[in-house]
Amino acid sequence: MTAQFPLSPTDHPTPPQTREEILADPGFGRYFTDHMATAVWSPDAGWHDHRVGALEPFTMHPGAAVLHYAQEILEGLKAFRHADGSIWLFRPELNARRFAASARRMVLPELDEETFVESVAALVRADEAWVPPYGGEQSLYLRPFMFASEAFLGVRPAQHVTYCVLACPAGSYFPNGVTGVTLWVSTTYSRASIGGTGAAKCGGNYAASLAPQREALGHGCEQVLYLGGEGRRSIDESGTMNVFFVTRDHQLLTPGLGTILDGVTRDSVLTLAAEHGLEPVQRTIDLDEMRAGFADGSMTEAFAAGTAAVITPIVGLKSDEFALTIGDGAPGKYTQQFRERLLDIQTGRADDPHGWMRRV
Ligand code: COI
Repeated sequence: MTAQFPLSPTDHPTPPQTREEILADPGFGRYFTDHMATAVWSPDAGWHDHRVGALEPFTMHPGAAVLHYAQEILEGLKAFRHADGSIWLFRPELNARRFAASARRMVLPELDEETFVESVAALVRADEAWVPPYGGEQSLYLRPFMFASEAFLGVRPAQHVTYCVLACPAGSYFPNGVTGVTLWVSTTYSRASIGGTGAAKCGGNYAASLAPQREALGHGCEQVLYLGGEGRRSIDESGTMNVFFVTRDHQLLTPGLGTILDGVTRDSVLTLAAEHGLEPVQRTIDLDEMRAGFADGSMTEAFAAGTAAVITPIVGLKSDEFALTIGDGAPGKYTQQFRERLLDIQTGRADDPHGWMRRV
């Protein structure tokens, strides 16, 4: 049965003027709304204490298992305001399903799909004033997460678990997201391996990405492109996004699932491909094939897709072995079309032919 998250409103809401100033330039992940949704779990009681209350620090025992062994999972999804003022979530049930899959991988208790969606919706209703106005590309970014809150230093699944949803008004994830990013092809680090945790959305994956990310920045690149497979010669994904390539003969290529994250934006782009005259193909993409493709013109565009970053053009690639500029170094035609199309559906500027939007 779907749990409800009753609201205990904060007694220290952000003054409206401060909120408006934040909404004028929210950036990404810098500002939080006034409330959070929470629930806790124990083996005897199951999930209980569902509520939306004031955003406040957790009181946590220093022995909480998450602080030692990173038994933690997360999600990211967005709410958009439409022209009539209504607020809509984009495909929250896919996040709910992936959250449950991540929970299974990290041996955390599952939260049912409807309760997950209700927790997010209840928080959005409480912090409705924080959903940016219609007309731009801004949204309210929702961050559900779950962690081992039991104080216990043995390595075993926690017997006390906390679930929480935070919300942040969000603008662009990358300051130059629309003009494009250059990716560093790391031959030192990998993100995922067969049997590993790459397909789970767990915090440790992002902690492990910080060293390669620093390496990328040191080479003047915004993000990393990870390699995987036999001999680490095939393309996996970027640090926070799935990657796509457009070919001259109208294919939209992306690495198949298995070790990489099953992105909601990835799935949406694959579904939209046919509208743009592209055939979606999920398969292994060899690094050498990609290099040759951009060299001889059989590959024409590359972009990355993720909830936070939407569609981000990839305009260049670098590694210790090569450097290449994609196309003329500007976002490609299909990349821009996918970005526009997704944002049109999300913000309600276009119809929602796939029934992706869920009204809050
Ligand atoms: C998202 O795109 O929602 C992500 O989870 C990436 C994030 C780590 C910023």
